[in-house]
Amino acid sequence: MMNIVFLGPPGAGKGTQAVDLSLEFGIPHISTGDILREAIKAGTELGRLAQSYINDGNLVPDQVVVDIIRVRLQNEDAREGYILDGFPRTIPQAEMLEKLLRESGTALDRAIYLEASEKVIIERLSGRRICRECGKIFHVVNMPPKVDGLCDICGGELIHRPDDQPEAIGRRLQVYREKTAALIQWYAERNLLVRVPADVAREETYENLQEIFRNYA
Ligand code: AP5
Repeated sequence: MMNIVFLGPPGAGKGTQAVDLSLEFGIPHISTGDILREAIKAGTELGRLAQSYINDGNLVPDQVVVDIIRVRLQNEDAREGYILDGFPRTIPQAEMLEKLLRESGTALDRAIYLEASEKVIIERLSGRRICRECGKIFHVVNMPPKVDGLCDICGGELIHRPDDQPEAIGRRLQVYREKTAALIQWYAERNLLVRVPADVAREETYENLQEIFRNYA
């Protein structure tokens, strides 16, 4: 059983690492960003509400994402733990998560902070491409697909996320500094924070993460 939160700026590699860890350790990867993008794709009411916030690089209102997480954590597959990627992103979200877990008689094991500099982040986000169909993450230079523009896994079209355009990247970094970075201290005060360098090769970060996860497997 391991309940993990991934913290870190946009583009630090949270999604990239969480997908592989989820496969290796058999626990679900729960990304609020992925859930919201799915809702946009499906054209649901949630998707329509979230779209303009996301495309402009702003946060979706706290209560909306907390409700998503409340429902998602009730799924059978989350009983043995989970990796929360992109949630919480504000102190009120972290407080609501703490309350939610307390009510269900569980708690977080670790908040893992993937540390990366702004220079690296901008370069990663500008070159990121994701599969329109399955969401697999690529990078035009660092992790290119085998066939240009097509997903290695399902053959779907690779797209440039609207919030990976320069203006939205700038806004996301500002929002991160103003609203999310405070969570580092918040989790440190609760003795849950682990810092993992993410400026380095993907494999190096992965080995550090495996080490942490093995302590809970
Ligand atoms: P979300 O999808 O969560 O975006 P994010 O947190 O900004 O994170 P990213 O997906 O941009 O980056 P990542 O750290 O996962 O990096 P990745 O692995 O892709 O959220 C999107 C939006 O949804 C938000 O802006 C907000 O509007 C809304 N939202 C979501 N959650 C919310 C919440 N809780 N509250 C309110 N609103 C919410 O890697 C990036 C690139 O780098 C890739 O191309 C990858 O191939 C490459 N890469 C990764 N690692 C390495 C490495 N070690 N070396 C070289 N390249 C690498």
